[in-house]
Amino acid sequence: MILVTGGAGFIGANFVLDWLKEQNEPIVNLDKLTYAGNLASLAVLADDPRHIFIQGDIADGELITSLLKQYQPRAIVHFAAESHVDRSIHGPEAFLQTNIIGTFQLLQAARQHYAALTGDAAARFRFLHVSTDEVYGSLAPDAPAFTEQHPYEPNSPYSASKAASDHLVRAWHHTYGLPVLTTNCSNNYGPFQFPEKLIPLMIHRAVNGEGLPVYGDGKNVRDWLYVGDHCAAIRRVLEKGILGETYNIGGRAEMRNIDVVHLLCDLLDEQKPKKQGGSYREQIQFVTDRPGHDRRYAIDSSRIDSELDWKPSQTFATGLRKTVQWYLDNESWVDNVTSGAYRQWTKLNYQARKDV
Ligand code: NAD
Ligand code: TYD
Repeated sequence: MILVTGGAGFIGANFVLDWLKEQNEPIVNLDKLTYAGNLASLAVLADDPRHIFIQGDIADGELITSLLKQYQPRAIVHFAAESHVDRSIHGPEAFLQTNIIGTFQLLQAARQHYAALTGDAAARFRFLHVSTDEVYGSLAPDAPAFTEQHPYEPNSPYSASKAASDHLVRAWHHTYGLPVLTTNCSNNYGPFQFPEKLIPLMIHRAVNGEGLPVYGDGKNVRDWLYVGDHCAAIRRVLEKGILGETYNIGGRAEMRNIDVVHLLCDLLDEQKPKKQGGSYREQIQFVTDRPGHDRRYAIDSSRIDSELDWKPSQTFATGLRKTVQWYLDNESWVDNVTSGAYRQWTKLNYQARKDV
């Protein structure tokens, strides 16, 4: 049994689905079901007794303590977070609450639980903290990619809150001996990603005939990794990672945003040609830049490659094609998650930019 937090979100849901496909070990999935969490992503597990879903907050220490006592998981894999940079700019408080205080409460409960374990149960217990490359800050165009030794220089409220959580995890290992592992991953894409992030947002707006808002000059660079490859890397770190260490995970797929959007438009032109003819590229609009927009992220994943023998299985071309097809085949999932507060958010985020 393992305990996963945030398993109804994008990466967490992919992780839960892949885990139960790969092995028979049950999962307790604790998720608050914020706007970003959706049980529709886990619908295929509705009758699967190996998936125990609990709606709750990671900041609820009593709840975590009772779950650890009841289920005695051998590991905690911690995905739950507020995860969108633009939202962190509009409203940072929820990011501090969940990413910092929530992680703190989880660590405290895990620490007490671990202290009571003995023998084999103590030896195999793990707390795996899922984090981001954004904690390292922004890279100059010709600078080498982030290694695990790169200094922390977070620039957004989101990345600052994740950096704080990484530091707490590190401290709980050094001070209290909690057996922790931390992963810092680059930008993920794939099925079940909420359409506020670049790739699903562009697909969603393109097929709805809306403007495709590219921030600034579109030349900011991100290093893209297919979500299934991230989940495989996490499983590998959980199995083989050295306690107290951190592992960078990336796709060796650096792309400028404008090139990503062009590729998406070309795939959509092929997979869902516009009825009235023409290309989705005509919908691209350059809009006011994001404040403090990090110019470039790139991950040096040679450590996890050489020490744990992990490599991504998808290239950006193969992963993006699968992803576009998935969104076109799963319009009902998109309709489901974009009902309610979604419209309000996109209005706030994009109409405030006045250009779209
Ligand atoms: P997401 O926003 O899609 O999902 C987050 C999930 O956490 C949701 O299901 C939400 O309901 C849940 N949640 C939020 N607050 C909670 C709380 N207080 N208690 C319990 N559950 C709560 O995020 P994601 O993209 O799946 O990211 C998962 C993790 O991976 C995050 O920690 C993020 O920082 C990290 N990460 C993401 C990326 C990426 O590209 N998406 C890259 C690297 C690392
Ligand atoms: P995003 O998916 O929000 O991830 P992150 O900011 O965590 O890297 O954004 C990826 C890149 O795409 C980032 O440089 C901002 C840019 N972007 C746009 O140009 N337009 C958009 O509408 C969004 C959401 C992002």
